[in-house]
Amino acid sequence: MRLIADLNGIRVAVLGAGRIGSSLAWALRKCGFEVIATARRDETLESVRRLGITAIRNNRGAVESSDVVVISVKPYQLPHLASEVRGFVNDKLVVSVVAGVRRATLERALQANTVYRAMPNINIRIGMSATALSGVIDGVNSNIVEKMFKCAGTTYWVPEEWLDVWTALVGSLPAYVAVIVDSLVLGAISMGFPRDLATKAVLDTIKATAEHLSLRTVHPAELRDEVTTPGGVTIEGLKVLESRGVPASMIEVIEKSAMKAEKLGSSIEDLVEKLMKNPI
Ligand SMILES: NC(=O)c1ccc[n+]([C@@H]2O[C@H](COP(=O)([O-])OP(=O)(O)OC[C@H]3O[C@@H](n4cnc5c(N)ncnc54)[C@H](OP(=O)(O)O)[C@@H]3O)[C@@H](O)[C@H]2O)c1
Repeated sequence: MRLIADLNGIRVAVLGAGRIGSSLAWALRKCGFEVIATARRDETLESVRRLGITAIRNNRGAVESSDVVVISVKPYQLPHLASEVRGFVNDKLVVSVVAGVRRATLERALQANTVYRAMPNINIRIGMSATALSGVIDGVNSNIVEKMFKCAGTTYWVPEEWLDVWTALVGSLPAYVAVIVDSLVLGAISMGFPRDLATKAVLDTIKATAEHLSLRTVHPAELRDEVTTPGGVTIEGLKVLESRGVPASMIEVIEKSAMKAEKLGSSIEDLVEKLMKNPI
């Protein structure tokens, strides 16, 4: 890898410019990185070009012209991509956002020496992802990785063994919040309340409650108790949440999806192993 003195001007190849890849590419470009992205279909390439980002099909070409290589294909697409770029990334800084697949597997599959993992969430589309980073904190490569994802939100360094839980908790959370918002709005509609006003009110209140919890650093149960007047309105709602097992279900949601992230990683690792024995 060329010696990187100034972080600006670092050339990044984003392999797999889908939802996460194109959003990261856009954030990186806005931050001053030079970015090239790849995809397979014309419509994906066109939509990335509309963001003002160079987009090509040739993964090896993109890798060769870059200092940093981001892998952002779906887990099941990884073995095929790995077979295309294996041996071309050994002098590059590689960052994978692929859920579940461990650094050791990525290093083997890609024949890469310097691999980091990043686990963002879909809020990267608006530059507000909470992203977990994992890899050797060496003050050089780790600084570049951190700077890249700070362009798209906040970053947290975590041990690799926490990433499956992070994926379940933070990667999937926007989906769970979206379900909660939708259901609450339907409840309001069921009581004759207008949809638009209900949606705005729910979103404002979720944002403010998150801010409130974070500013006051109170335990969530404390905030709940402040709202819950004896014999009042909130306790009626809380009784429904308890009787339907919602708090316990939330715990299970994270447990089950974290286990799925782990399983997904293992199945891709098996695929990679097979591929290493019988290359495409
Ligand atoms: N979505 C999330 O919320 C989220 C959150 C955290 C992490 N992740 C991880 O991020 C990764 C990407 O997820 P995503 O939601 O962005 O998926 P996506 O929208 O399906 O994007 C994947 C992209 O990879 C491209 N691709 C596939 N094989 C390729 C190849 N051989 N060469 C070049 N491009 C190739 C596809 O191109 P075409 O469109 O041309 O087929 C597609 O645009 C996944 O590994 C996932 O685990 C996702």
